[in-house]
Amino acid sequence: MTMKYHVVATTSELEEGGQKFIDLEGEEILLVKHDGEYYAIAYLCSHAEFGLEGGQLQDGCIVCPYHGAEFCLKDGSVQSPPAFEPIKSYPLKVEDNAIAVALGG
Ligand code: FES
Repeated sequence: MTMKYHVVATTSELEEGGQKFIDLEGEEILLVKHDGEYYAIAYLCSHAEFGLEGGQLQDGCIVCPYHGAEFCLKDGSVQSPPAFEPIKSYPLKVEDNAIAVALGG
């Protein structure tokens, strides 16, 4: 099955270090630009389900602003407690300044 990508933003909407909440068919997603790359991850932290928006970006990770759990932007894996469950990460592509995200196959 081919993945269906949805255009959710333009590249001009996200500066380096920028973060943007999007709701894609009911999925709450955080778009992030870090070190020139774009990522789409779950908006909510897997620890206590608070929003990750505003979390510090460092070394390819986002740090939850509430209790400091750290997640890899690329695959959503946990890099630091207190979270122990990964968060979702979504396939993303950039074409002609449009950022498109797929919900997964
Ligand atoms: S809600 Fe993110 S670490 Fe607790």
